[in-house]
Amino acid sequence: MMDGLVAIDSEGKITILNRAAERITGYRAKKILGLSYEVAFGKENEDFVSILRKTFREKRPMVGEKPFFSQNKSIFLEVITNPIAGPENKMEGVVVVFRDISMLKHLKEEIRRKEKLAILGEMAASIAHEIRNPLSGIEGFALLLKESLKEDEERKNWIDNIVKGARSLNNLVTSLLNFSRCPRVNLQYVVIDKLIESILSFIQQKIQKEKRNIHIVKEFPPQPVEMIADPDMLKQAFLNLAINAIEAMPGGGKLRISIKKKNYPEYEPHQFVREIDGDYTLTTSCGEVCVEFSDTGCGISPEEKKKIFRPFYTTKSKGCGLGLAIVQQIIHSHWGDIKVKSKPGQGTTFVLILPLINDLREIKNGCREYSHSR
Ligand SMILES: Nc1ncnc2c1ncn2[C@@H]1O[C@H](COP(=O)(O)OP(=O)(O)O)[C@@H](O)[C@H]1O
Ligand SMILES: [Mg+2]
Repeated sequence: MMDGLVAIDSEGKITILNRAAERITGYRAKKILGLSYEVAFGKENEDFVSILRKTFREKRPMVGEKPFFSQNKSIFLEVITNPIAGPENKMEGVVVVFRDISMLKHLKEEIRRKEKLAILGEMAASIAHEIRNPLSGIEGFALLLKESLKEDEERKNWIDNIVKGARSLNNLVTSLLNFSRCPRVNLQYVVIDKLIESILSFIQQKIQKEKRNIHIVKEFPPQPVEMIADPDMLKQAFLNLAINAIEAMPGGGKLRISIKKKNYPEYEPHQFVREIDGDYTLTTSCGEVCVEFSDTGCGISPEEKKKIFRPFYTTKSKGCGLGLAIVQQIIHSHWGDIKVKSKPGQGTTFVLILPLINDLREIKNGCREYSHSR
């Protein structure tokens, strides 16, 4: 039997725990047979106990989805309980059958997330235009108004705030649109060190302007790291990560950025063939570039970690929650991977792993060329 089965007698003692139940719950029959179900499961699995308790109390079958803690893992069970009636309707006990539906739940959530994204994309595209026009009107007229106010510094300041608001809305609409459109990657030779340097000068300015006590440490290899990538997209990703790191260190700290290049000359070049609007085939050089953004900030709890890449997930009062969703999208469209390591209260490291693409061939007239050069 694939399903877990537990039988409990009229006094609440466990009389049967089948193999599947042992496997799913992580409890051993040897240890818990004869114990009361409340004692056996109660400590970690109050939800499971409560559906059993209710079955005893109300003497009727019940169905539910319950979280369950098994062998240091949180899983989800579909639980069906059945009271066993004896002569004269006396309650003889309860049989409970259950199965692990964690995977199913996970898949359902993933599908829901994808559907939400697709709807978001359509919505974003249609409203972005409607929002942008009046926004540029607001900004333009506010600037005109500012010019007409000659010496009135206080009112000029108010207008600056209007302009700032309009611009930040405009940025939000742009990010949303970019995100939902899955923008096309514009691949070319880039030097990763230079891309990072260019965002760092912006970051340094921000740090100085906001008078933050943040120290930036660069760990770059002696030779510049050259590869094929979309420079604007990578800059956007690096900037989002650097800004998050700074925002995670309100009391100051250290931002370490490292670039590492790994070559694997002993292997055949790993080949990625991917059509981008029917245009490219790519190969890598058996290597990867690893870029790390490491801060000594507030850190991210394991619970939060599951959510940070979702669009609109934010813990900041002024955040829009698109930053990491965009970073992830950018890294994935470079065939790469993003990982996060964090210790709450100590800091966070985002690791970007990008395959080192050093050869790029265009597909012409539908005739595909595959390259194996290094
Ligand atoms: N370096 C970091 N340290 C701590 N928390 C972070 C870090 N980067 C991201 N986060 C968490 O992930 C959330 C989502 O980040 P992001 O998508 O960039 O949106 P936003 O910055 O607008 O909140 C943040 O609100 C924050 O809680
Ligand atoms: Mg952010």
